[in-house]
Amino acid sequence: MSEEKLDSLLHLGTIIKPPEEFVRNANVKNYEEEYKKFLDNPEEFWAKVADELFWYEKWDKVLEWNLPYAKWFVNGKTNITVNALDRHVKNGRKNKVAFFWEDEFGNEKVVTYGSLYTLVNKLANALKNAGIKKGDRVVIYMPLVVEQVAAMLACARIGAVHSVVYAGFSVPALRHRIEDAQAKMVITADMTIRRGRAIPLKQIVDEAVRGLDNVEKVVVLRRLKPKVDLIGEKEIDFYEFIKDADTYCEPEVMDSEDPLFMLYTSGSTGKPKGVIHTTGGYMVGTYYSMKTVFDLKEDDIYWCTADPGWITGHSYIVYGPLVAGATQVLAEGAPNYPDFGRWWSLIEKYGVTIFYTAPTAIRMFMRAGEHWPEKYDLSSLRLLGSVGEPINPEAWMWYFRVIGKERCPIVDTWWQTETGAVMITTIDGLPMKPGRAGKPVPGVVADVVDKEGNPVEPNKGGFLVVRNPWPSMMRTIHKNKEKYESYWNTIPGCYFAGDVATKDEDGYIMILGRADDVINVSGHRIGTMEVESALVSHPSVAEAAVIGKPDPVKGERIKAFVILKEGESPSEELVNSLKKHVRTELGALAVPSEIEFVDKLPKTRSGKIMRRVLKAKELGMDPGDLSTLED
Ligand code: WT7
Repeated sequence: MSEEKLDSLLHLGTIIKPPEEFVRNANVKNYEEEYKKFLDNPEEFWAKVADELFWYEKWDKVLEWNLPYAKWFVNGKTNITVNALDRHVKNGRKNKVAFFWEDEFGNEKVVTYGSLYTLVNKLANALKNAGIKKGDRVVIYMPLVVEQVAAMLACARIGAVHSVVYAGFSVPALRHRIEDAQAKMVITADMTIRRGRAIPLKQIVDEAVRGLDNVEKVVVLRRLKPKVDLIGEKEIDFYEFIKDADTYCEPEVMDSEDPLFMLYTSGSTGKPKGVIHTTGGYMVGTYYSMKTVFDLKEDDIYWCTADPGWITGHSYIVYGPLVAGATQVLAEGAPNYPDFGRWWSLIEKYGVTIFYTAPTAIRMFMRAGEHWPEKYDLSSLRLLGSVGEPINPEAWMWYFRVIGKERCPIVDTWWQTETGAVMITTIDGLPMKPGRAGKPVPGVVADVVDKEGNPVEPNKGGFLVVRNPWPSMMRTIHKNKEKYESYWNTIPGCYFAGDVATKDEDGYIMILGRADDVINVSGHRIGTMEVESALVSHPSVAEAAVIGKPDPVKGERIKAFVILKEGESPSEELVNSLKKHVRTELGALAVPSEIEFVDKLPKTRSGKIMRRVLKAKELGMDPGDLSTLED
């Protein structure tokens, strides 16, 4: 057995108590008590949380549940930006810092709630002046800058539905999202910074919107000097666009169930699906978790290293923290550029107290060596978080010891684009078990079950489900009701998340991975079918099958098996050409790290590729039931 494996097994039995001082001061001092409050009266529990926020009109009913359709805070009226901005500006937080932003070159910007408020209001008015109305879709394709956050909030202010597309996606991926949502506007920038280089974004947008009549305007944040050219009548400079707009925009009065945003995520089918979140419940759910899971206090300096292009950024950079009035760090660029000290230097510089990142980053830093974080003073930290994929116990222990100096609890937060907010973790007072995410947060009834929905025995593998509706749950999938319903009817009466898990005697849930054809590369969801379709669209490829393989840093990496067309022969150039092709079709995230040319693929008699057979063979494991295999 490898040393790493052995280490992992040893740590899996470890139980670590959170520091007493932390628990004494925690917003939730006793998980069991808080959970019981929820169980005793779920509606009262959520009403109390919602009452802490501003509503134009209160709800008539907390929940209306017609499986699988939920309405939360029925007939309540609010606007999430009033809670994220106006409420703070009017209550003494006008000069409180909302964001300490910086890029890789040390360029800095300090943005207070007051100045963010003005920027958002002006942009909201500019959107209105450009004819954007409540319900219209706006695609945001931007780097990690304050203007990206402002663009999302400006949409929310006027009731437009934003669809943020991560700036690493390529032309066809962006185009599909713009088209599918019939977006009226795209907000973008000329470039994003990565490893000291400017990576162009505007060309990608220009290509993606070509011939799409639904796009009336493209707003471009120009950062480069000299400024890039704007082409045609559609394009306008970001600051030109907002220059003459009024500094106050009356917020749109939003119904609780009015859509707030859509966000595309990969599934087991070819095209990503647009997950829809609404206003009231999402606001209450993300706000609650900010205060409880992340134990946010007035003077915390909070840093979530995600990008608003993913749900983590939506919920835990934009909406959750701003509604809760947090001060945040926002750092554009790579975690290890110019060197492996960058992140730790920022923690020291800003005195970060709460730090939320992904296992893939932790494993990368683990490899780079302890001497990097050791150069910096990390004593401001008091809570650490992890998200996106299972964190293996050895990475957990490293994070705990080297970054948290054994003083900081770690919240390993399990959730999804679809769930909107954290669902499973070890809230504050709970002892931690490295490698196990923990228990359902108050508000969530989670379980590990068989196909029929019956709980499996402790420590036996099963499907991870949620048995009840919760405020921040997605409400539907854009133009695909059936897909939405399938989350709730695969396992009768439960929300099936798509993950396999185990639950131990103490109720601690350990996520094992996806049950479907989704690969998790560095915490990002990639559909096998998406990569396969991209490969098959290459002129030399006849057929392709894609699997995920364990990777020590990325969690999983992509391996592709490719059957070439007649007359084509394998070569190094062809491998590179295929990789390049996937990059252009989907983006860098989806590029296979391994490509193997084969003559045949294992298929069922009905012609479906059996990826699990490929995977088992690749990993030297038992392929299981082969009775449906063609030959
Ligand atoms: C999938 C959801 C939630 C924000 C980032 C990803 C995996 C997520 C954990 C965790 C084990 C995790 C699951 C889930 N996942 N967090 N703490 N431990 N696995 O959001 O892109 O919607 O992906 O990520 O497989 O289903 P997403």
